[in-house]
Amino acid sequence: MRQRLSSEVVFQPGRAQGMSPRRAWLAVWLVPLWLGGCLWTTDEPYLANRQPPPLELLSVEPASGAEGVPIDGDVVFFFDAPVFPQAVSRETVWLTASTSEIPSSRRVSLLDCSVTLRPHEPMLPLLLYRAEVAGLYGFDRGAMAEAQEVVFTTGDATTTSPAPAPPTIEEVQSTVFAPRCAGCHVGAQAPAGLDLSTVDAASEGLVGRKSALFDGATLVSAGRHGSSYLMWKLLDLPAVFGDPMPPAGDWPSDRGCGTRDEELRMVAHWIDGL
Ligand code: HEC
Repeated sequence: MRQRLSSEVVFQPGRAQGMSPRRAWLAVWLVPLWLGGCLWTTDEPYLANRQPPPLELLSVEPASGAEGVPIDGDVVFFFDAPVFPQAVSRETVWLTASTSEIPSSRRVSLLDCSVTLRPHEPMLPLLLYRAEVAGLYGFDRGAMAEAQEVVFTTGDATTTSPAPAPPTIEEVQSTVFAPRCAGCHVGAQAPAGLDLSTVDAASEGLVGRKSALFDGATLVSAGRHGSSYLMWKLLDLPAVFGDPMPPAGDWPSDRGCGTRDEELRMVAHWIDGL
């Protein structure tokens, strides 16, 4: 059987030598036409797939021209898709006052499709600041078409509402991992060796651990849900190995930008608080 199959597909150059002048003449015309046809039909979708649309900045808080901005406030850039965390650095998102760069931390929110700039020190009151963003890209979005900036002025007050405390792993375990994941992720034979059936196993298996299946990815990167492969799986982001998690079922119902799914937010908030 094997033998017959392979002899059928063997290339037989002897056949071409027997071609009549008439056929050869036809081939001279038909081959370029055929090639042209192939290019014509494959050209467009091929190019469209190769060049994803650019990441788009939708809005910024504070808006450009804002005044009286709290001195301990953040600058938040909102995009039309999740930003690829590795694209975020001093070279792509930065804050200046006069001509000096203000040392800041940068955080990606995959849930809000945003990047947050937080100055290490409170800003100075009544001063003009400029926040800029350039060259960021998304999981399935190309680089931003052009650099963007916002200019705002600080007031002399601080923000009023303190940030809510992050949830503990016990809360995440009982709300999300136990009911939604432990049915599969349990014991020594758990998928990808990831046991999510107890607090200790989940913490041990996730925090700072490398993915067993996707080279170089960290399952939970303490303090950064954007760089945590666990969140990539929960949000079903493009270019992730295997299935979204959980692989089936009706949760989470909304994985899009600005999702209101409280359990997704709980997992992200837990990671950010680590
Ligand atoms: C129906 C069974 C099933 C359920 C339910 C399930 N998983 Fe999985 N999970 C798998 C399988 C199978 C794999 C390996 C293949 C893959 O990555 O798609 C996996 C892989 C993973 C990985 C990747 C591990 C690695 O090392 O790359 C993570 C993280 C994960 N699951 C987290 C979760 C979380 C969190 C939940 C609950 C919200 C969950 N899973 C629910 C079956 C399941």
